[in-house]
Amino acid sequence: MAKYIVLGAQWGDEGKGKIVDLLSGKMDLVVRFQGGANAGHTVIIGDKKYVLHIIPGGIVSGKATNVIGNGCVVDPIIFSEEVKYLQDKGVKVSPDKLIVSSQAHIVTPVHKYLDKVLNKKIGTTGRGIGPAYGDKIHRTGIRAENILDGSFIDRFCEHAGNYKSICDQVYDEPFIDVDEAVAEMEKAGKYLKPYIQDSIEVIYGFLKKGANILYEGAQGTFLDIDHGTYPFVTSSSTSIGGAYTGSGVFMEFDKRIGIVKAYTTRVGEGPFPTELNDATGERLRKNGNEFGATTGRPRRCGWLDLKLLKRSFMINGFNYISLSKLSCLSGFEKILAAVDYDSKGQPVYKEFPGWEEEVEGITDISKLPANCVKYIDFIEEYLETPIGMISTGPDRNNIIFKEALF
Ligand code: IMP
Repeated sequence: MAKYIVLGAQWGDEGKGKIVDLLSGKMDLVVRFQGGANAGHTVIIGDKKYVLHIIPGGIVSGKATNVIGNGCVVDPIIFSEEVKYLQDKGVKVSPDKLIVSSQAHIVTPVHKYLDKVLNKKIGTTGRGIGPAYGDKIHRTGIRAENILDGSFIDRFCEHAGNYKSICDQVYDEPFIDVDEAVAEMEKAGKYLKPYIQDSIEVIYGFLKKGANILYEGAQGTFLDIDHGTYPFVTSSSTSIGGAYTGSGVFMEFDKRIGIVKAYTTRVGEGPFPTELNDATGERLRKNGNEFGATTGRPRRCGWLDLKLLKRSFMINGFNYISLSKLSCLSGFEKILAAVDYDSKGQPVYKEFPGWEEEVEGITDISKLPANCVKYIDFIEEYLETPIGMISTGPDRNNIIFKEALF
C-alpha cells in the first residue's frame, strides 16, 4: 500500500504530468483535489501526447480509478470535450474509472465572462476559476450534486439572471447570451451526470482496502491562494493542506513528492525575483519549450530560486524531490541559483560551471557530466531533502532513479 502526493514546488508547470503518469501505472486511485481546467498536464507516452486540463493524469494508463475531488471546480463543457478528446485517442473513460465529487463546484459561462472582466491584471487562464471559487465562498455556487437532484438548470438561470442584472450596469463588455448558455449547460450537465458520486466514500473505500493512492496537485505552491504571491495566485489551495480539504479524507502520505524544475518559470503576472528578461531567459524558454499547456502563452523564465523553494518545502513537508527539465540546462556556460535575497530583495546567486554535454535520455546517474552532478548535489544539500528522481527528457523513460519509489 503506497500513499503518495505529487505537488508543484514552484509556480506550476514543473512537469507533474509525467511523474503522475509514471506512478499511476502502479496506482489504484488517482485524486485531484483542487483547481479546474486551468491546469495543463502534458503526458507523453511513446509517440502519443495527451494534454489534460481537468481529468486526472491517471486516466491515461487505464489502470487507476480517477477522482475529481470536492475541492475542484468543474466546467461541464470542458469536461465533456476532454472525455471525448481522450476517447478519440483510444483512452478508456467511463464512470467506473472517472468520478466527479458531488460536492465539486460547477464553472459556468458566467464565471468565464467574469474572469475576463475582473481578473485582467492577474493574467489568469480565463477558465472562470476565480469567479467559481468566489461563488463557492459567497455560498452562491452551484454544485455537481445539483445535477443529480434536478435543480441545476433552475439554479443556473437564477445565477445567470442575477449576474446579468449587475454586469449590464457595471461592465462595458457585453454579457453572455443566457439562452445559449442554458442550452450548453443543459447538454453538458447531462453528459457529466453519470460521473457524479460521493467521492469521500470512494476515496475512503480505496484507503480501507489498502490500495495504492496518488494525489495529483495542479498548479504550484506559489500559486496557492494563501501561500502564493497574492494576489497573483490561483483561487485554490495548491499546497498540501488543500489535499485534505479538497478530498475530504485524511491519510498520511508516505511520499510527499515535490516536483522541482531545474530552473524557474511562471505564467501570468506577479513577482518573480530570478526572472531573466534577456537572451538567457529566451534560451531557457526555447530549450524547455516553455509555452503554457492551457493557454499557449510564453512562460516567463529565470534561474532556480532555492531560497523560495526552501519556503515551499516548509509548507509542504516534502520528503522526496523529483527534479525535472535538467536536460534544458546543457550548453550554458554558467548556471545560477538564488540562495538568498539582499536587503533590497534582490536575489543573491551562487554560480555553478555549466556543462556542454547533452543529458537528454540519460537513465544512469554515473553518466551525468560532473558539473551537472555538482549542481544536483547542491540542490539536495540546500533543500535538505533527497532528490529521488531526475527527469532527463520528455519521454516516460527519460528518468534517473536515485531512490526507488516502490
Ligand atoms: P487562474 O488559475 O486561471 O485564476 O489564474 C491565476 C494565475 O495562476 C495566473 O497567473 C495563471 O497563469 C496561473 N496558473 C493557473 N493555472 C496554472 C497552471 O496550471 N500552471 C501555471 N500557472 C497557472
